[in-house]
Amino acid sequence: MDKLLITGGRPLEGEVRVSGAKNAALPIMCTALLTEDPLKLTNVPALMDLRTMAKLLAQMGVEVGTQSDCGIELRARAVTNPEAPYELVKTMRASVLVLGPLLARCGQARVSLPGGCAIGARPVDQHIKGLQAMGATISIEHGFMNARAERLRGARIAMEVVTVTGTEQLMMAAALAEGTTVLENAAREPEVVDLARCLRMMGAKIEGAGSDLIRIEGVGSLAGAEHRVMPDRIETGTFLAAAAAAGGRIRLTGAAPDTLAATLGKLREAGARIQTGDSTIEIEMAGRPAAVSVTTAPYPGFATDMQAQFMALAAIADGAAQITETIFENRFMHALELQRLGADIAIHGNTAVVTGVERLQGAKVMATDLRASASLVIAGLVAQGRTLIDRIYHLDRGYDALERKLGALGARIERVH
Ligand code: EPU
Repeated sequence: MDKLLITGGRPLEGEVRVSGAKNAALPIMCTALLTEDPLKLTNVPALMDLRTMAKLLAQMGVEVGTQSDCGIELRARAVTNPEAPYELVKTMRASVLVLGPLLARCGQARVSLPGGCAIGARPVDQHIKGLQAMGATISIEHGFMNARAERLRGARIAMEVVTVTGTEQLMMAAALAEGTTVLENAAREPEVVDLARCLRMMGAKIEGAGSDLIRIEGVGSLAGAEHRVMPDRIETGTFLAAAAAAGGRIRLTGAAPDTLAATLGKLREAGARIQTGDSTIEIEMAGRPAAVSVTTAPYPGFATDMQAQFMALAAIADGAAQITETIFENRFMHALELQRLGADIAIHGNTAVVTGVERLQGAKVMATDLRASASLVIAGLVAQGRTLIDRIYHLDRGYDALERKLGALGARIERVH
């Protein structure tokens, strides 16, 4: 099994290009189920999760082709098998996003329940309640959601929690429903906005994406479209946090600085000098970062997907920082691994108090989930000596060529078998 070997202590210098966003590409690929026409996507990152989604769609009868410029073409002339098996859903929760589109297109779906996950319980009750409000009958049998609907009907749905994929699920289903759907307390994440942009290109009538009230007027059919996936704001933030921790000066291109306000604000608070252009971000960090506290919240708050990376930054910061996680109940697994590298972290419920130390020391550590892996990479870059990170398949799910990009910035990092 692959591992990452990092020799720490070098500042980062140079330029890298940000990839397309995993969490935008995943729901957008599912929109292929809503039309018989081809959906052409560009800026699709080369990631395991997207290969899993392509496999899932192919199993349903979707033709999947790859093109140049990180392109992919999906065409669902017919959906022959409206089912998402446990084997795929258990490896990637976002597989549940096919439920709404399948119901809208085929009037039926059989999708495995995702179950638990390393970062918390992660139920899908809001997805189910929303689709039921639109007229679907959903029963849970043998671990599967069995869903049926003659034709989905528009409804006013007040979501009880802010859920990103829940909002995306209902938006896709509502696009082909009869009548108007209003989603209250909708997620405002940029990935929701990107999905709405793609759906509109396909002919959907959607207003308000990016606010907490989204209005979708259902249409009879959708057509194919060409869409460029938005830049990955979490990959961007991860590189910025790495530069803030390791020091140096890097420039990111192909980015979307306007989707990163909370992260950029916190990095500036840590002492980084940051300049943004339309699609570029430059960060310069000299000396030890100041300790900054963060509390995760739905967008436009500080992203839970950046929490682990900021814990690594806090580990070597000057002073003590409080890191509070409000989205997932079990997203501190990286704290124990960071402690193996010499970090001083005390956990009290959903808050971690991190007292910065001057130096971390390289050690063998284990990745537990995607963003936890990223925090260990950042810690490895600043630790004295060698850090060996095991279970990096988590990293491959969500970071496109991370070690190659960090290597281009001067980091001593290699994949070993
Ligand atoms: N929740 C419910 N019921 C539901 C849905 C969610 O109670 O029906 C709760 C969850 O348990 C959680 C909170 O609502 O406590 C927010 O979860 P959300 O549904 O927003 O998470 P998600 O849509 O499953 C997406 C990203 C995650 C990211 C979260 C939060 C994708 C494919 N995944 O997950 O990304 O952490 O939003 O921003 O978009 C990652 O990329 O590493 C990752 C985990």
